[in-house]
Amino acid sequence: MFINKRLNTLNYYPFERLRSLLKGITPPSGRPIIMSLGEPRHPPPSFVRDILDVNSDLWGRYPPIKGTSAFRAAATDWLIRRFHLPDGLLASDRHVLPVAGTREALYLMAHLVVPCRKSGERTAVLIPNPFYQVYVGAAVMAGAEPIYVPANWRTGFLPDFDTLDSAPMLRGKVVAHPPSLIDRISLAFLCTPANPQGAVATLDYLKKAISMARRYNFVLAVDECYSEIYDDSPPAGALQACAELGGDLTNVVVFHSLSKRSSVPGLRSGFVAGDPDILAAFALLRAYGGASVPLPVMAAATALLQDECHVTENRTLYRAKVDAAADILGTQFGFRRPPGTFFLWLRVGDGESAARLLFQNAGIQVLPGAYLAQPDSRGVNPGRHYIRVALVHDLEVTTWALERLRRILTPGARQD
Ligand SMILES: Cc1ncc(COP(=O)(O)O)c(C=O)c1O
Repeated sequence: MFINKRLNTLNYYPFERLRSLLKGITPPSGRPIIMSLGEPRHPPPSFVRDILDVNSDLWGRYPPIKGTSAFRAAATDWLIRRFHLPDGLLASDRHVLPVAGTREALYLMAHLVVPCRKSGERTAVLIPNPFYQVYVGAAVMAGAEPIYVPANWRTGFLPDFDTLDSAPMLRGKVVAHPPSLIDRISLAFLCTPANPQGAVATLDYLKKAISMARRYNFVLAVDECYSEIYDDSPPAGALQACAELGGDLTNVVVFHSLSKRSSVPGLRSGFVAGDPDILAAFALLRAYGGASVPLPVMAAATALLQDECHVTENRTLYRAKVDAAADILGTQFGFRRPPGTFFLWLRVGDGESAARLLFQNAGIQVLPGAYLAQPDSRGVNPGRHYIRVALVHDLEVTTWALERLRRILTPGARQD
């Protein structure tokens, strides 16, 4: 066969697995409520349509892979404003590149920075476990060994990279992998705010991760797609951490998307920023195999990045739904207010059974946590007790669905 055999080692995509799980179940009448998919449903600002209309003559032009200078300037200015970056840290022509959605960019980044071998051995890519599934596809298809770093309640739902370093072993901590592993790492994915758990990395955490990336010479790819969907305080960013470490951007790239920030997942617009050498090489790779962002889309994206009103409104809508969730769920199912993202990561016993029950009894679709995680060395899937619930519908639908969810599910029993 001509198909790349690495593809066989990937699980089916989570939503494909969910379709199989729910096959044959007839939900009660009415339209199913899709809370499995992180697809924002709030209306995007109306100026998006106007800008697309005004720029419609540009559909006839091939867009440049580096985008327009106006887009790069808007993205750079936004990063500076949002993360309080010092003057001179970012230059729009060197440090920012538009991408047609960050999924593609995350995937392609691995194909840029993952060599076949590092330190004479097969290269490795760090992936938080649970994860956004694209990290796994990226690592595997780039030929690396994926290394799953636990990101569970014990580690504050973020990967504890310390467990990979040789230093903590000297202090007698449990180490999950042999020390030589660290020398084989070429890329580490980090998601903050984290999908699916909603955890947010502190500035200190980011500074430590960046220092480690530089010490062992791997690329730290920080997925900040949910940076604008937060509860009470804006999450720190990796570029901010670079600034605090002296302003060097070496080994660090961040990914930002308009899909969640501005509720335009169909616009396919985001950007990558950071290490200028990586970005220059990324632009070349993307010139061969990346999708450039159409010019009317880029014009709309530029205006979105220049406007914060709709982002604040968007966040307020999500916050009201988290408030409703707090009222309805209390401490049931291990509910805690997610500091970031619009996901609830609920501990419900068996995630797959819960997903089936919810669909059968109320037509509510949620994603079993096991589909977003890889079994650990003991064969235990750290997501198996969880479901991920996306609060993407309006407040009324969300409230109804969460009340039904509470009634239908019995509380999960033990911590893993
Ligand atoms: C953590 C995370 N990163 C990246 C993406 C990709 O977003 P987009 O391709 O729309 O920019 C998603 C989408 O759901 C996501 O959840």
